[in-house]
Amino acid sequence: MPTEAPITAPQPFRTNAIDRLVMRRADDWHVHLRDGAMLGAVAQFTARQFARAIVMPNLDPPITSVAAAAAYRSRILAALAPSDGFTPLMTCYLTDDSDPDEIERGFEAGVFAACKLYPAHATTNSRLGVTDIRRIYPALEAMQRIGMPLLLHGEVTGKEVDIFDREAVFLDLVLSRLVVRFPALKIVLEHITTADAVAFIESGPATLAATITPHHLAINRNAMFEGGIRPHFYCLPVAKREHHRLALRRAATSGAAKFFLGTDSAPHAIGDKQAACGCAGIFCAPYALESYAQTFEEEGALDRLEAFASEHGPRFYGLALNTERIALERTPHVAPHRLGAGATELAPFHAGASLNWRFVGAADERD
Ligand code: DOR
Ligand code: ZN
Repeated sequence: MPTEAPITAPQPFRTNAIDRLVMRRADDWHVHLRDGAMLGAVAQFTARQFARAIVMPNLDPPITSVAAAAAYRSRILAALAPSDGFTPLMTCYLTDDSDPDEIERGFEAGVFAACKLYPAHATTNSRLGVTDIRRIYPALEAMQRIGMPLLLHGEVTGKEVDIFDREAVFLDLVLSRLVVRFPALKIVLEHITTADAVAFIESGPATLAATITPHHLAINRNAMFEGGIRPHFYCLPVAKREHHRLALRRAATSGAAKFFLGTDSAPHAIGDKQAACGCAGIFCAPYALESYAQTFEEEGALDRLEAFASEHGPRFYGLALNTERIALERTPHVAPHRLGAGATELAPFHAGASLNWRFVGAADERD
């Protein structure tokens, strides 16, 4: 018997594919906006995608006082249009000499949202960072009392420790003691890169959370050496083995409230990256939500992106959720190799690669 001709042409097979993603406006809980011309070049990328961002204080000199943070906040706002509706949340850079009274004053005044701990010499502009965690116990006591979060660059710096082990050793030597000594202190372990960190956060107290970057979800350490040295994939903490990346992907897409979005977008001019001693940092702000959306889709968890990007962070910080809505569309496109020019010419994360999603801005009447 002849088979019946199909009435319509066969459709390409796509399981649960959606083409428009609408969600609550997101926040970035870890970003480097820099200063001066670089601030002018990069701030718009963050303000376009995010309502608020925790702004890192590792300028040179670092932001260690309330006055410096207030002035920096003004410079950030001056680099943007009021219509961007962007709120920078400022942080205080901890040093061996941090003054608990200054920290408390800044938090109570609504200038400081959190304090950032850089172990001395761990990364960009960290030379004035903390040399021994015990030096800042008075500051941590004050922060615990007033409910002010501590944000950690979680790596030890001793030359005897292999660079790929620095986060895991930090968990053993520093963080495990910190959570016992300061049981009520809110702590965010920033930009986690290992399965060890995922396990530590999951089994830790409710006061402990972590941010995860788009790049640590997308690349493993091979990316830095593919066919040659690839400085634009170098950041700190450095990307680890594939099984660590997979653990991060499971954590981010699990729906667990302890994990939330923090891009660690860290722009350095191309000449400072492509050098004999290149700077650490990946400029991921321009396609941050596209990158996260790609990971969540690959993990079959697009329905959990909103909680990771827009809900877990503000809940941890005790802030209101954003009410505006944003949209991403399935519009495959290739990210440019370069953005900007001259001293602020930058290579964005995903440069030259294809992205499935495109951030389109505020949701409209269709949604
Ligand atoms: O790769 C990084 N870049 N990691 C950091 O911790 C700092 C950042 C920067 O400021 O360049
Ligand atoms: Zn950072």
